[in-house]
Amino acid sequence: MLRRLVAARNPTLVSSVSGAAAASKAGKIVEANTRNGFKRYHAGCNHCHGPDGMGSTIGPSLVDRLPEIEAFRAIVREGRSNGLSVMRGFASDPNVAPYIDDIYAYLKARADGAIGRGRPTGKAQ
Ligand code: HEC
Repeated sequence: MLRRLVAARNPTLVSSVSGAAAASKAGKIVEANTRNGFKRYHAGCNHCHGPDGMGSTIGPSLVDRLPEIEAFRAIVREGRSNGLSVMRGFASDPNVAPYIDDIYAYLKARADGAIGRGRPTGKAQ
């Protein structure tokens, strides 16, 4: 029911976000991987990339410009540097490495506008 509702409103969302198909702007109902991604993001990434992926003076917004999944995985595992600013790699971080795809699901739902700012819930509101 919800899935069909979301599909009707935003067909690309359902096909593009694997596992997060139940995301809905109105109800903010999202699947567990997206909620875990929110939690992991706000434990390991937010102090540089800003709350809710909005960016900060240290790191770029990940909502305005989210890399494709393969590039995202490589950047988060291996780190990224342009000479002026540096992000370390998280490949050996047990709080991040196993959950990179969950973090991506969260940021993708944010980037697609499927969920807004704040903590997404798993319950209808
Ligand atoms: C210590 C600060 C810091 C932390 C913590 C951090 N990043 Fe970064 N991140 C940066 C900076 C700075 C850049 C830009 C590097 C550059 O200019 O090449 C960046 C770049 C990126 C990019 C590439 C963005 C683009 O537009 O190319 C991604 C994706 C990314 N970070 C994801 C993450 C994720 C996910 C986490 C948490 C697991 C995280 N970062 C934690 C500072 C950080």
